[in-house]
Order: sequence, then structure tokens, then C-alpha cells
Amino acid sequence: MTDGLASPVIAIDGPSASGKGTVAVLVAQSLGFHYLDSGAIYRVTAYAAQGVGVALEDEPALAALARQLQLRFDGGEVFLDGKPVGDAIRSEEAGRAASRIAALPALRLALLERQRAFRLPPGLVSDGRDMGSVVFPDATLKVFLTASAEERAQRRYKQLIEKGLGANLAALLQDLKERDARDVARSAAPLQQTVDAVLLDTTSLNIQQAVQQVLDWWCVCKPGKPA
Ligand code: CDP
Repeated sequence: MTDGLASPVIAIDGPSASGKGTVAVLVAQSLGFHYLDSGAIYRVTAYAAQGVGVALEDEPALAALARQLQLRFDGGEVFLDGKPVGDAIRSEEAGRAASRIAALPALRLALLERQRAFRLPPGLVSDGRDMGSVVFPDATLKVFLTASAEERAQRRYKQLIEKGLGANLAALLQDLKERDARDVARSAAPLQQTVDAVLLDTTSLNIQQAVQQVLDWWCVCKPGKPA
């Protein structure tokens, strides 16, 4: 426990489809760190609620459900009650459901310790909306990773098509803008660039360049670096 608390964290926050998940996974691999996809926790919670008939507005019931969820992350797959959920949580509809329940403070609180439990030696890379502001406020490196809404819609479109899921570019752009607005405007842990986070605008960067930038920043601020 104490060891876990001492482990360094790289917190990568940013809006929908900015590529933060891909960058976070590659940074974690490169450093041999653990990885937390916090968005997947919100997605799978909404999915589980729909499965047992809990309304996405029922804050107390959602919080109670979130505390009991049997979740396991293994090799990029999410297991709910021992069963892989696969792409069921990756659709736009699942993202919308996640974003709706993510606005509820009691639900967010119920998921807090579950997220912090990922902080284990030798370190953690986590991505989401409030990694640097709420979940790991003492993160060693905080990155706010973004890109223009048009570029993000293109990326999400490509991702969905590659997965064989249906997609419409104009509808995706509209949906991204609505999700951004909801994530920024909510009172509980809104999406924001904290003052101690560095901005990484990836509109004209490829994934390798974005990963390299985070690794370069990490080299400068990691614990134990010679003065
Ligand atoms: O793919 P996208 O970045 O939109 O979604 P995600 O990172 O999988 O997260 C799904 C939704 O969960 C987001 O739209 C946010 O509203 C919410 N979320 C959050 O509120 N806080 C987090 N730390 C992570 C996700």
C-alpha cells in the first residue's frame, strides 16, 4: 500500500478522441508502467447498469452498483463478472452513456478508490478527464492532450471503421462537440487543463511524435533524476 502510494504517475487528460488512450498505452509500454483506462471504467459501469435495468439518472443506485462491480483489466480487455465485454463498451452509444453517468458526483466518488488502486510500482500511466485534477493530484507529470474537434472526429471515424463498426463523420463531429461541452460544463470533476499540466496539441502530430514528447517531458521530471 505504502509502496503503491509512492509510485509515480503520469496523468494524461483530454477531450474525446484526442488519442490520449493510444499515447498513454505506448508511454506505459515504453516505461514498463501499469496503464489505467479510466474511461473504460465509466463505460463498463454504464453498460452494467443497462444490463441490470438501473436508470442512467439513478445516482444512488449507480453509485451502489459501481462499488460492487466485479471488474478486471487484462491485456487491453475488460472483464465484467469474469466475462470479456469486448467492443460492447466501445460504441458511440456506450460513450454517450458513460458521459451521462460521469456527470454524477456520487458515482464518481464510488469509482475513486478503484482507480487509485491501479497505482502500483514501478509506476502508472492513466488517461481520462480528471486524472491530474482529482484522482492523482500529486501525479509527477500531468499532460493535457488535445487536438482540433475536426481532427478528433476524423480519428474516431477511422477507429470505428477499422473495428467494423458503423460511423458517420458529421454525426461524430456533432457528438464529440456535445460530449466536450458536457465534460467541460459539469460541476463534478470537469474536463480542464490544470495549471500544472503541460499542453500537448496533437492536431498535426502523429502518434510516435506525441509519445516521444511525453517521454521527453518524463525524462525531465521523473523522480531520482540527477540535478
Ligand atoms: O473515447 P472517449 O475519450 O470519448 O471516452 P473515454 O475516455 O472512454 O470516456 C468515456 C466518457 O467517460 C467520457 O466522455 C467522459 O464523460 C467520461 N470520463 C470521465 O468523466 N472521467 C474520466 N476520468 C474518464 C472518462
